[in-house]
Amino acid sequence: MPDKRFHLGWFMNFTPDEWREPFAQGGLPWDGQFYIEMAQTLERGCFDYIMIEDKLMVSDTYGGSTEAGLRTGMMAPKHDPVPLAVAMGMATSRLGIVATMSTLGYPPFLMARLSSTIDSLTKGRFGWNVVTSAEDLAARNFGLDKLPPRELRYAMADEYMEVMDKLFDSWDEGAVVLDRKKGVYADYKKVHPIHHEGQFFKVRGPLNTVRCPQGRPVYVQAGASPRGRDFAAKHADSIVSIANGVQGMKEFREDIRARAAGFGRNPDDIKILYCVTPTLGETEEDAHAKQKRMLESPNFIEDILVSISAITDIDFSKYPLDEPLPGRLVTNGEQGSLDKFQNYGSGKTLRELVVDGAGGLVSSVELVGTPEQVAARMGEVMEHVGGDGFLITTPVLRVSRRYLVEVVDGLVPALQRRGLARTSYAHEMLRDNLREF
Ligand SMILES: Cc1cc2nc3c(=O)[nH]c(=O)nc-3n(C[C@H](O)[C@H](O)[C@H](O)COP(=O)(O)O)c2cc1C
Repeated sequence: MPDKRFHLGWFMNFTPDEWREPFAQGGLPWDGQFYIEMAQTLERGCFDYIMIEDKLMVSDTYGGSTEAGLRTGMMAPKHDPVPLAVAMGMATSRLGIVATMSTLGYPPFLMARLSSTIDSLTKGRFGWNVVTSAEDLAARNFGLDKLPPRELRYAMADEYMEVMDKLFDSWDEGAVVLDRKKGVYADYKKVHPIHHEGQFFKVRGPLNTVRCPQGRPVYVQAGASPRGRDFAAKHADSIVSIANGVQGMKEFREDIRARAAGFGRNPDDIKILYCVTPTLGETEEDAHAKQKRMLESPNFIEDILVSISAITDIDFSKYPLDEPLPGRLVTNGEQGSLDKFQNYGSGKTLRELVVDGAGGLVSSVELVGTPEQVAARMGEVMEHVGGDGFLITTPVLRVSRRYLVEVVDGLVPALQRRGLARTSYAHEMLRDNLREF
């Protein structure tokens, strides 16, 4: 029988958990415990990885003020994903843990050292979501007046990755000898300086951490523009994407695979996970009613507009809700997310853009129904697209325990019964699990 299994990830961030709804958790997850339990729950569902989104600012783009963002708790407060990743990793044994860190924020040496250390702490389950940052406000927290243009950001990021790879390889396999008789811990002949001098970075090396279990952490990336797709196709082990419908998913995958082959890579080494926001119910009617309640909630539209404003540097409060946008909007920030959202040419009003997507900013394809129905639909979609899996989340990323249980104890078993999801982990390390099928 052909192996029809696909991969599952979860997309979240270290912001308040769901705190406004009837099944809210409290909104104060700052000791990390809520998210640590979340990671354990996902491991029960044999997810490949949990991915922690991150941004480096308190946005004041929407309405020209931080008021709406802070009032709703959308996008801020947002705590650092890295210590949380470590805590999650220490409380699990198979789940991959992916943290977002921006090339804007860390010099390559610190990035390599930090990721290598976490990969060792998690015994080879660490992934780095490689982002270049996409907001002028973030740039202004790092000594810049505004974000460098996209081309330059990616050119810098390409060299950044070159330095990272050199640093990870600065310790050969077998450099740690641990010969007690001879009194040798590490063989100095197997630890090399890298002497990197490029256009943007100058790094001597070697790393002062041992070679990490995966050699280098798993690289996750989300490039969406042509330049971003090249970057992702060149470097990533896993690409996360928000696509427009089944056809958009298929086109994106074919495009990425062609680009990867062009870079001399085996396209099967890249697992593309598409964002979805399943709405699950006891019955189909129940699921649709639930979705309707969410879409009609006064919070929903504002939450979405605050988020899209923050990641595009465009103030969406200035556009009338019941009119189409004035034309195709362009940003130096997350153009891919903006294009998905604005659905240019559809003639939809702003309100319809928010509501019709049903999953808000992060839904590639609509999934509403009973666990059995949604599992069946996911299977059909993957068959049409060709692979490689889904990145589950909610429209605004926040979660409650109830939603987690619906997915992990409802949807995942339904997928497993259909032979669409793994029932146990075959490997200990994240890259091996990604390449299992
Ligand atoms: C699923 C997904 C997750 C992302 N996570 C982050 C993130 O955590 N931090 C960030 O700054 N950008 C994030 N991005 C933005 C991407 O890194 C990228 O900037 C965006 O997709 C636009 O692509 P482009 O740079 O090729 O235009 C994410 C994008 C997607 C689709």
